[in-house]
Amino acid sequence: MKITYYGHSCFKVETGGKTLLFDPFISPNPLAKSVDLTTLKPDYILLSHGHGDHVHDAVAIGKSSGATFISSFEMVSWVEEQGLKGHPMNLGGKWNFDFGTVKLVQAVHSSKLPDGQYGGPESGFVIWNDEDCFYFAGDTALTMDMQLIPMTCPPLQVAFLPIGDNFTMGYEDAAVAADFIQCETIVGMHYNTFGYIKMDEEEAISTFDSVDKKLILLTIGQTITI
Ligand code: NI
Ligand code: MN
Repeated sequence: MKITYYGHSCFKVETGGKTLLFDPFISPNPLAKSVDLTTLKPDYILLSHGHGDHVHDAVAIGKSSGATFISSFEMVSWVEEQGLKGHPMNLGGKWNFDFGTVKLVQAVHSSKLPDGQYGGPESGFVIWNDEDCFYFAGDTALTMDMQLIPMTCPPLQVAFLPIGDNFTMGYEDAAVAADFIQCETIVGMHYNTFGYIKMDEEEAISTFDSVDKKLILLTIGQTITI
């Protein structure tokens, strides 16, 4: 899979012949000024929950790209009200899309949309096909339920975990999460965008090193292949 970082918790993942975009929050992020929204042409937009720092650019990119949304029933109802198309899901369910299987998994957080609507349950995604398997955790605390992922899904090659603390787990708990999900390679997200989630990148990396896990911190615009 090919992964490109757009800042905060926004990633593009190319897998199974399709382009997936997660949690687009780009235009308000001063660190992501270099990203041109019109160059993003996702086939699917996946939203973990309704907070503005995950959905801010979702409707605009949905309109310009014609992408299909994948999220909770409540989140998909919200995008459909705005003339966009989506596939609604809920926790514990999986569906076979044309790029692979998506399973909605538990996250411990909250979910309210920018207009005050309830966004349904905050969720993470486990996605797999013949070549790839990865977990995008969204915003979440460390939770024992993460141990269900290796019991119910194929082995993970990589996981996107929040590490910035205050609103989500910090990197110390994320290192425990990496153990719970039995994944060796973690891509960090939800850190350093604003004051409450500023953290020391070297300390975060050495915390993962100390438990024999690899923490990758991408620069905005960087692409890697896993
Ligand atoms: Ni949030
Ligand atoms: Mn957030």
